[in-house]
Amino acid sequence: MKAHVELCEVGPRDGLQNEKQIVSVEDKLRFIALLARAGFREIEATSFVSPKWVPQLADAEEVLPRAITAHPSTLFSVLVPNEKGLERALACGARKVSVFTAASEGFTRKNINATIAESIERFAPVVRRAHEVGVVVRGYVSCAVQCPYDGPIAPDAVRQTCAMLADIGVDELDLGDTIGVAHADEIARVIEACAVVRPIHELVVHLHDTQGRALDCARRALELGVRRFDGSAAGIGGCPYAPGARGNIATEALVELCESLGYSTSIDRIALGEAARFITGVLAAPPSNGTN
Ligand code: HMG
Ligand code: MG
Repeated sequence: MKAHVELCEVGPRDGLQNEKQIVSVEDKLRFIALLARAGFREIEATSFVSPKWVPQLADAEEVLPRAITAHPSTLFSVLVPNEKGLERALACGARKVSVFTAASEGFTRKNINATIAESIERFAPVVRRAHEVGVVVRGYVSCAVQCPYDGPIAPDAVRQTCAMLADIGVDELDLGDTIGVAHADEIARVIEACAVVRPIHELVVHLHDTQGRALDCARRALELGVRRFDGSAAGIGGCPYAPGARGNIATEALVELCESLGYSTSIDRIALGEAARFITGVLAAPPSNGTN
């Protein structure tokens, strides 16, 4: 039997949070429906962050409950930056939430207005409460290789942030090359450093692709034993607080890579292609300003 690689589709969240135009709720739900049809076990649907910080996802209360109702067998995860975000997510039926911090102080300040230590203090009650109600928690560590404000980041700094998140009880750790600049050797060093906190096959790798090296990084991560990746259909995405960050690694390319190396992903490539074409078309359409 082929070894399995688990792909989490983050397009509806990471893909849409940085777009100039605000995608309608109906188009978000159509995108999610096409992705669900492609067979993703988990789709990151939206964020319960401050709508002032990320207006693109201010409709989370409309999107998440409808996605859950329409696709009961898909796990929809959502970002929550604090207890307020968690309560909003729980009220909408979330079964998995993601807290997010970074290995660099500069990015953490710009992205969530906290130091790394403060972010961990903020997340501790979020993780406790989530676990009380049986909700799984992912912990993202951004800037795993480089920070747009602080420059190169040492693998040991990433390990330290991972260890802090593990100490407060997050269920999984996700390493983000937020600005998409990693070389394969760099991502390998980070993965090896973090393997002392969680076994490599449990780590999630979240690549952006600014320099065209994300697939090399994914290939090296697979060689090292990583079996979980995030991707975004059509490679859309970026973080509004990470200048220069381009799209996520395209999920289609990840599926192709994994399958060409003999892994199974359980993703229907034709259906994924349809989702990618749909969202590309939505984003290419001129924004409606009421005059057309
Ligand atoms: P702050 O301004 O310091 O927060 O922002 P605050 O606690 O002082 O609150 C300010 C206002 O926001 C208040 O409202 C709060 O009620 C409200 P006001 O009194 O002014 O009307 N507020 C909220 N409203 C709704 N939901 C909430 C919430 N929290 C506070 N949850 C805060 C701090 C964390 C809220 C803000 O910085 C924030 O929302 N940041 C999110 C930024 C973000 O979403 N970035 C992108 C995701 S991270 C990423 O993309 C990287 C990743 O993909 C991995 C990788 O690539 O590396 C995950
Ligand atoms: Mg990202």
